[in-house]
Amino acid sequence: MGVHSRLTGLRDLSPGERRALAAKSAGLDPGALDVLDPAAGLTLDQADHMIENVLGVLGVPVGVATNFRVNGSDVLVPMATEEPSVVAAASNAARIARIHGGFATTCSAPIMQAQVQVLGAADPHAARLRLLEARGELAELANAQDPRLVEFGGGVRDITVRLVPSGEDVYVVLHLVVDVRDAMGANAVNTMAEAVATRVGEIAGGRTLLRILTNKADLRLARARAVFDAEALGGSQVVRDIVHAAALAEADPYRAATHNKGIMNGVTAVVLATGNDTRAVEAGAHSHAVAPDGRYTSLSHFERDAEGNLSGSLELPMPVGLVGGATKVHPVARAAVRLLGVRTASELAGVVAAVGLAQNLAALRALATEGIQRGHMSLHARNVAVTAGASPEEIPTVVARMLAAKAVRADRAEQILAELRVGAGTAEGD
Ligand code: MEV
Repeated sequence: MGVHSRLTGLRDLSPGERRALAAKSAGLDPGALDVLDPAAGLTLDQADHMIENVLGVLGVPVGVATNFRVNGSDVLVPMATEEPSVVAAASNAARIARIHGGFATTCSAPIMQAQVQVLGAADPHAARLRLLEARGELAELANAQDPRLVEFGGGVRDITVRLVPSGEDVYVVLHLVVDVRDAMGANAVNTMAEAVATRVGEIAGGRTLLRILTNKADLRLARARAVFDAEALGGSQVVRDIVHAAALAEADPYRAATHNKGIMNGVTAVVLATGNDTRAVEAGAHSHAVAPDGRYTSLSHFERDAEGNLSGSLELPMPVGLVGGATKVHPVARAAVRLLGVRTASELAGVVAAVGLAQNLAALRALATEGIQRGHMSLHARNVAVTAGASPEEIPTVVARMLAAKAVRADRAEQILAELRVGAGTAEGD
């Protein structure tokens, strides 16, 4: 049975009912997502084995983004985020993208790189060539660290050497270029870099210092594109204004930082839900946002296509994996991967890129039309009402009154609650 991502009425269900519906729609057994109930999620014991000095665990809401169609198949996307309106915005953008077939994604091979830094080589240019001549020996030494990876078709694909001048020295920097298959790959390439370092120093005639992966994972790219229907977006003027909004991000680093943050709202939420390293993906994204002339710019592009629709595209490094790390040990991350139904790290990378593009489009559309505060505020108002002490029965009234008064603030929520309770008390007393 195929996956259905068009889930209507989800909003009106309880979290437990939503889990059952999402599981059914993804072709999973009804209890497959039950670990997302906080009572059944990560145990203290499991957490104690993940990091040091464990005190407890932090709960972050996990929502499901609907309407996504990626490379011709529906997919339900788990998103872990504390920010209201992110999940709804991604789902809305995905609904519009569906009109013209959804998202098309591609990925480069899962290539990570590690750097080995050599100091004090007397003849850096010749050292570079000596290291390239020793490519076979160094690749063999590195591959011997991870026979399983090699067995699965991964391993060293290339060795490159760069000369990086700095002050008095010219550093000879060797890159191990490694296909890490379905792993995120940090452990694999770091182990390899440490293993070859001594030999690299000998060949280069210098002292090795750093042996570590680069998070500028520019050989491990995920790309997503989609056509967003002009009419569904609100008409041709909205399309033109979104193109202008995106153009400002391309030209102006102050806007680019916010624009890219909008992309990362979607990207990080899926990366976190699947137990992947959010900081690695963020570091990669921001390094990729630097144009060849050194300017910080936007990661995505929006253009008006020949039919007058909006054509959006995004490319960014996506070092995510399905084997190893929290993805394998965290029960919620495992359930999230099951919900997604992805079988390879590259499939996961493509979905993450699609969500990033959807999130970006949703923000630009709101900014180019009514602004983000109206949609944002109605969700934010719920948090304000809860913080002010509203019970589940009181929340809808407190939210509605704050929005009507255009005053979504704690003091207003407290005032409305006091009025409500006086009214209720009077009614009971009557
Ligand atoms: C808010 O979390 C993200 C936005 O600021 C992104 C953007 O401005 O494009 C709305």
